[in-house]
Amino acid sequence: MTGKLHATLKGKQHATPPIWLMRQAGRYLPEYLETRNQAGSFLDLCYTPSLAAEVTLQPIRRFGFDAAILFSDILVVPQALGQSLTFAPDHGPVLGPLPEIRSLENQGESTFHVNLSPVYDAVGTIRSKLDAEGFAATDLIGFSGAPWTLACYMIDGKGTKDFMATRVRALRDPEFFARLLSLLEESITAYLVRQVEHGANVVQLFDSWAGVLSPDLFRAYVIEPTKRIVQKFKSACPDTPIIGFPRGAGHLYADYIRETGVDGVGMDTTLPVTVAAKDLQPLCTVQGNLDPALLVAGGERMDSAIDDILTTLAGRPFIFNLGHGIDQHTPPAHVERLVTRVKSWSTSS
Ligand code: CP3
Repeated sequence: MTGKLHATLKGKQHATPPIWLMRQAGRYLPEYLETRNQAGSFLDLCYTPSLAAEVTLQPIRRFGFDAAILFSDILVVPQALGQSLTFAPDHGPVLGPLPEIRSLENQGESTFHVNLSPVYDAVGTIRSKLDAEGFAATDLIGFSGAPWTLACYMIDGKGTKDFMATRVRALRDPEFFARLLSLLEESITAYLVRQVEHGANVVQLFDSWAGVLSPDLFRAYVIEPTKRIVQKFKSACPDTPIIGFPRGAGHLYADYIRETGVDGVGMDTTLPVTVAAKDLQPLCTVQGNLDPALLVAGGERMDSAIDDILTTLAGRPFIFNLGHGIDQHTPPAHVERLVTRVKSWSTSS
């Protein structure tokens, strides 16, 4: 069965749009913290299918979102390719030295998939749990980081403000960088297809650092690789819509949609909804873009921002979401209030 999110990405407009939130499973929920403690660490949680499934279901049970998103992290892909990864508690990710490109290329696809098999098992477990708990109409989103964003973490080794080391390396050593992007393209496509085979029925590509690139490099490192992933993914999974999230793409959002062929686009917080309605919505389904800070703050400012987004975008295929992941200091009551407000909205009234 496919649900409202899937239909919206296929171009259907609903009087009440579907809603889910990036990072909807996470530290703002007390039940998440409890399960994470039980797992031992964040990565143990990601790699234990029953517990990853449990935290994926938590926000669905609490808020009734229209879609569940696989609980994992974009950085399991570099790890599965052979680069070491750690998450210190309450610090961001840290990757070990980047292995030689030759050794990354030579690892072989079967080791990659064996390393990621707990993720595939989690996807299957989540789908059966959703069905068993009365959420058969809830879509299941699989995901991956996009090549550029994964390359940023692989080369810089951690989150930085502008990924200068990656940008310089890409320019100084274009042959190496093209090989890295191409390896990531192949790996990501295979990873997404496997997730679909295990039960995901929508996928999202997170390009969280697309916004640090100048226009010509955005075309080379974001649009071109994404376009090839979309083509290959669609030939393997023609019925599964793909959402792209090129955070910070600004004036290049429309080119991104037109050239990559994504079915939906995630809008970041900086994109004016009026611009999205005029320039992007005619091209594909749009998703977003409440400021996560408004969800922390709550109150009337949040309510009016929600209404503004709905009034401007809900008349055409639209998915309510945040402009970036939910913040850990978000009161769950504010999420409840957001969901109630969106679910009681109707374009027909
Ligand atoms: O949306 C969901 O609920 C699914 C789970 C999900 C996580 N990370 C869980 C997570 C998804 C889709 C991601 C994607 C991700 N991971 C991105 C792309 C989206 C974005 O936010 O831009 C990026 C850049 C990462 C890498 C990453 N993972 C960072 C930089 C951090 C540290 C920042 C932070 O919030 O702590 C993480 C850790 C992480 N990923 C947590 C969760 C729930 C927090 C870990 C914990 O429980 O301590």
